[in-house]
Amino acid sequence: MGKVIAVVNQKGGVGKTTTAVNLAAGLALAERPTLLIDLDPQGNATTGLGVSKAGLYPTVYHVLLGGESTEKAIHPTSLRGLRLLPADIDLVGAEIELVGLGKREHRLRLALEPVLASFDYVIVDCPPSLGLLTINALVAADRVIVPLQCEFYALEGLTHLLKTVKLVRERLNLGLDVEGIVLTMFDGRTSLALQVREEVNRYFPGQVFDTVIPRNIRLTEAPSHGKPVMLHDLRSTGSTAYLELTREVLSHEH
Ligand SMILES: Nc1ncnc2c1ncn2[C@@H]1O[C@H](COP(=O)(O)OP(=O)(O)OP(=O)(O)O)[C@@H](O)[C@H]1O
Ligand SMILES: [Mg+2]
Repeated sequence: MGKVIAVVNQKGGVGKTTTAVNLAAGLALAERPTLLIDLDPQGNATTGLGVSKAGLYPTVYHVLLGGESTEKAIHPTSLRGLRLLPADIDLVGAEIELVGLGKREHRLRLALEPVLASFDYVIVDCPPSLGLLTINALVAADRVIVPLQCEFYALEGLTHLLKTVKLVRERLNLGLDVEGIVLTMFDGRTSLALQVREEVNRYFPGQVFDTVIPRNIRLTEAPSHGKPVMLHDLRSTGSTAYLELTREVLSHEH
């Protein structure tokens, strides 16, 4: 059965999508059949993997709310072992439409059941909120990865986020655990970045990935080519870092 990892942070622009796409690609390159789920109405993971949003049907929205089959909504990507469950702006409505439905927190988990055996890993790219879409990801997940940008307010939302994870574990998904916090857009030349790293390690010992993702222009360029960074520039520092993160995630398997 596939291990489901939700990439979560309610803060915008911290590197969730970059991490979800490139970790999923790294796992696929390690010959682990992987499904990336775009659970963000912005559809950045969808575009980033070169799937056009124009006229896209069915999407994750139709799977969650329209009763479409998950299998039918899954797309191939430029990597053989990587498939995508895409999203587009329709998903905005889900946050409200879900409220009135039964099993509203369990929709994603139920939708995944029929395909889970086909994958080793399922990576979920979450929107920048702790609304019902993110709750659906947390209920479907075995593990949570939290990308954290090394900036002044980095730690502020983190406590609230981890509290939410704890609540979901207690009430909705006993199997949920934190896989790790990953520092993104790291620039070791600034004392602020070094200070944030130190603080995160102090407050969350044993919960921070050894791998640190550096700021790297190739990571910004790759989505405009519809590719994970490894297919854009394999030797870039961004690509190397996400392959290292992949190795760390694989090493947590046993
Ligand atoms: N390590 C990095 N080096 C350079 N640029 C990066 C890096 N990580 C992410 N970026 C860029 O920063 C921006 C935000 O990253 P990303 O989209 O991954 O964040 P996000 O948390 O998914 O944002 P949102 O909350 O809007 O979904 C993007 O333009 C992305 O290309
Ligand atoms: Mg995103």
